[in-house]
Amino acid sequence: MSVNLKGRHFLSMLDFSREEILAVLDTAKELKGKRNKAADSLPLSGKTLAMIFQKPSLRTRVSFETGMTQLGGHAIYLAPTDISIGKRETTEDIATVLSRMTDVIMARVFGHDIVADLAKYSTVPVINGLSDYEHPCQTLADFQTVIERKGKLEGLTFCYVGDGNNVAHSLMFGGAQVGMNVTIITPSGYEPVPEVTEKATAIGKGTGATIMITNDLEAMSGVDVLYTDVWASMGQEAEAEARKQIFKAYCIDAKAMSLAKDDAVILHCLPAHYGDEIDYDTSRLPNSAIFDQAENRLHAQKALLVHVAG
Ligand code: CP
Ligand code: NVA
Repeated sequence: MSVNLKGRHFLSMLDFSREEILAVLDTAKELKGKRNKAADSLPLSGKTLAMIFQKPSLRTRVSFETGMTQLGGHAIYLAPTDISIGKRETTEDIATVLSRMTDVIMARVFGHDIVADLAKYSTVPVINGLSDYEHPCQTLADFQTVIERKGKLEGLTFCYVGDGNNVAHSLMFGGAQVGMNVTIITPSGYEPVPEVTEKATAIGKGTGATIMITNDLEAMSGVDVLYTDVWASMGQEAEAEARKQIFKAYCIDAKAMSLAKDDAVILHCLPAHYGDEIDYDTSRLPNSAIFDQAENRLHAQKALLVHVAG
């Protein structure tokens, strides 16, 4: 491992430099190649991951828990009602207690301030397993998947279609860091937070990445990657019906595929609402890597865990 990330928090794609992101992705590739071989070392033997969830999950929970098992460690699932972060007990006390007992903390939360507070008071690494602001573990897996399909990140044009949400934010930060152009196409009023666009644009100036935010679906023309996510994120359920009307043209379908490059990779972080942000047939095309992407959550996060907690 060429970089030393031991003890580092990972709350944002901005927490790691370009070199550090690429080093984690290299380790992810290596671990994927060695998967389940008896010769695997157990770098997290005897170590415990505490997993705090304020929201539901399939991929994040299973990938972190399985990842810890495969690395020789153990993971504890703390359901939303188990510790009721901020209600039963303060974030400060939770971080302090978990730091005395466990070796690394992963948290899926509503407000980003909760993971920031956990990191402030924790003496062990804290990993953001999704907040309303960012989903950086997803971006690591997404980038691993793009490298598998395209052999590189730098210089590609990565197009995200849909809501300017947590997933979009992490892709923008990550793309800017690694020199990959990121185009975000949203309905008017659903653009990414301006502060994210400003920061990503400024970083991109130094790495050669162009960050474009538009409402124009024609911006899918000639892109290398087409990505989408749900129109209403966890916590926005009450807006779901209204958003269906507003977002209905912002969908990955045959028309989108006709605009993108012929070999454009289709990605979706899942869970998917087929017929809304992506149609089922498009999601099953050979260009689609959505299940490689889901699997890569395991490999990318194992790499992350080895780097920060190994
Ligand atoms: N993509 C993702 O984070 O999936 P889960 O919500 O199932 O963890
Ligand atoms: N933007 C979605 C991602 C789910 C993995 C959400 O926050 O619900």
